[in-house]
Amino acid sequence: MSRVVLGVSGGIAAYKAVELLRRLAESGHDVTVVPTAAALKFVGVPTWAALSHHPVSSDVWEAADAVPHVRLGREAELVVVAPATADLLARAAHGLADDLLTSTLLTARCPVLFVPAMHTEMWEHPATVENVATLRRRGAIVLEPATGRLTGTDTGKGRLPEPAEIAQLADLLLRRPDALPPDLAGRHVLISAGGTREALDPVRYLGNSSSGQQGVALAAVAAARGARVTLVAANVELPDPSGADVVRVVSTAELRDALHKVAPDADVVVMAAAVADFRPVDPGAYKIKKSDSGPAPIVLSQNPDVLGELVAARRPGQVLVGFAAETGDATGTVLEHGRAKLARKGCDLLVVNAVGDGRAFGQADNAAVILGADGTEQAVPFGPKAMLAASVWDAVAGVAGARAPAR
Ligand code: CTP
Repeated sequence: MSRVVLGVSGGIAAYKAVELLRRLAESGHDVTVVPTAAALKFVGVPTWAALSHHPVSSDVWEAADAVPHVRLGREAELVVVAPATADLLARAAHGLADDLLTSTLLTARCPVLFVPAMHTEMWEHPATVENVATLRRRGAIVLEPATGRLTGTDTGKGRLPEPAEIAQLADLLLRRPDALPPDLAGRHVLISAGGTREALDPVRYLGNSSSGQQGVALAAVAAARGARVTLVAANVELPDPSGADVVRVVSTAELRDALHKVAPDADVVVMAAAVADFRPVDPGAYKIKKSDSGPAPIVLSQNPDVLGELVAARRPGQVLVGFAAETGDATGTVLEHGRAKLARKGCDLLVVNAVGDGRAFGQADNAAVILGADGTEQAVPFGPKAMLAASVWDAVAGVAGARAPAR
């Protein structure tokens, strides 16, 4: 059971921190909630206390005999501040200790994850920009806010990322405190996720069961590591990861266009999408009807190998990563097929996972081996997809560091 402090500052998104608390508690973590006085104007003490099973206080004067402002920070294995308002970020950046949360931030020696939420103007104000830069320089992780509907009828950057995404990153930091270094800052990463669908007729398609979870986890972890992220999502029914530009596509042709458009600007391309190898030659304009003579055969043609094209068009220094879901067969093991595919595709890294028996597709957890073109082989044990994502970015940072400086 890991000890987590959930700091909540005074923004309307405090209500979403209730779901975050639930998720963290359901994952088995021991969560103490430390709201600011302003946060309690949005969500009251009984809610936090009942869901965390711990007493809740905002100031350092209650239960002073237990010296909470020192104890909480010292004992925590992770501090998550969600929402982190402009005011809270300012107080943290300046080392103020005028309530229990800011005091806890000064005594904590564990990873600290700030999840900002505020209006776009406040996020973009030079004061906030500098405070965020200060906190990041000191080793804190400050997520980019999501873009979308804000408090009123306005939209823009400043929404709290989805509680599920915050919980995923919190869980990652508890398993691996070093999983989110700022090593992708200044880099543009392009990720494909999900599975393409090829139309048979206006209502039917040939597709696959990729959920896009691995690609979305790659995007969330890359953004938290400082990258500018473009995610090309093929039929992904998950919320957009915050801090990523998301391009939604359906078919392989659309995925290919979207990738070729962005790839020339990308420092890294990760092809996590399950791309349909074949498409019906002639998707009819009308729904295929049953007939007494039985179904007409479906004639397929081969789709282009998008990763192969991207490898052929790569610019100097660009890192290319493929994924391969393999089953072993009479001609070779999963890893033998993976090695051969890496050589055939010409990418820098190939993430190989064994599929079949309910593994990989649609599951929250995954295991893989990351093969390097230089002959390296790193086994990533079965675990959350964010853990595999962190290992992939470690490997990418290794290849990229050996190649080109960040722009
Ligand atoms: N891929 C691609 N374009 C395709 C097929 C696959 O870009 N038309 C990419 C996938 O996104 C993945 C990698 O290539 O990163 C390997 O995918 P996989 O389907 O395993 O490769 P194939 O070349 O189709 O090999 P196989 O003969 O095993 O199907």
